[in-house]
Amino acid sequence: MLTLILVKIGGSVITDKNLYRRFREDSCKKIIRVLPSLNDDLIVTHGAGSFGHIIAKRSGFPRKFKKEDVHDYSIIHRDVLDLNDMVAGIMLEEGFSPLSIPTQSIYRNRSPDLSDFQKYMSLGFTPVGMGDVILRSGIVKIISADDLLVALSAAFKPNLVIFLTDVDGIYDNDPKTFSDAKLLKSIDRNIAFSHVMNDVTGGMKSKYEKILKIRKHAGEVVVVNGNKPERLNDIGKKDFIGTVI
Ligand SMILES: Nc1ncnc2c1ncn2[C@@H]1O[C@H](COP(=O)(O)OP(=O)(O)OP(=O)(O)O)[C@@H](O)[C@H]1O
Ligand SMILES: [Mg+2]
Repeated sequence: MLTLILVKIGGSVITDKNLYRRFREDSCKKIIRVLPSLNDDLIVTHGAGSFGHIIAKRSGFPRKFKKEDVHDYSIIHRDVLDLNDMVAGIMLEEGFSPLSIPTQSIYRNRSPDLSDFQKYMSLGFTPVGMGDVILRSGIVKIISADDLLVALSAAFKPNLVIFLTDVDGIYDNDPKTFSDAKLLKSIDRNIAFSHVMNDVTGGMKSKYEKILKIRKHAGEVVVVNGNKPERLNDIGKKDFIGTVI
């Protein structure tokens, strides 16, 4: 039986989040090379990193849409497509047949329309989704690749969901700020975030809340260091380095 694997390639790995539009080609290549290709159905999503966050922050997105927002909105969307183009390009070089599904078209109606993911996967493509801005009910919203995985998991009940980020997994505190932060090798899905973390840690808090939602629909969720993607080969083994939820 085919297994379904959903992967999120973190913007923190494939871009330098401090430098506008700085793509890390080698990191992206390394990841694509270890992605399972033969025996699994695969959906890939990627974050926006510095192709999205920097201008979004400058513009105050997400918030109510104002007329003067169109230009920054256009820039973010163009930048996200450029990043997607580079990711898909590497996938092609590595033998995948990626088919990018625009986030704008997924969120046209009240509930996300994921039918294209199903359609192209069944035809043998590797569907690729991405974080982007969307405009709905007069609000500029940000749909992250994490959000996409929540919707995709609820719809397709994957066997495995993989988050690749720029740290070894989920820690009990932000490892970039606290050198004594401990890597949590496994987290019980019923545990509340406040019990796991000493601190409210922006990016990871909302990611963790989304992971708990995903966990309800997925066989297993893992968070792995995208700079050491070969660790994906150790999932299920005793010496696996990462967080299993
Ligand atoms: N408890 C924690 N455990 C692990 N990482 C944490 C924690 N708290 C905060 N972080 C930070 O979260 C960051 C990862 O989240 P971030 O949103 O930056 O990455 P990403 O989701 O891969 O990128 P993008 O949103 O662009 O796709 C890490 O770099 C780390 O510093
Ligand atoms: Mg993020």
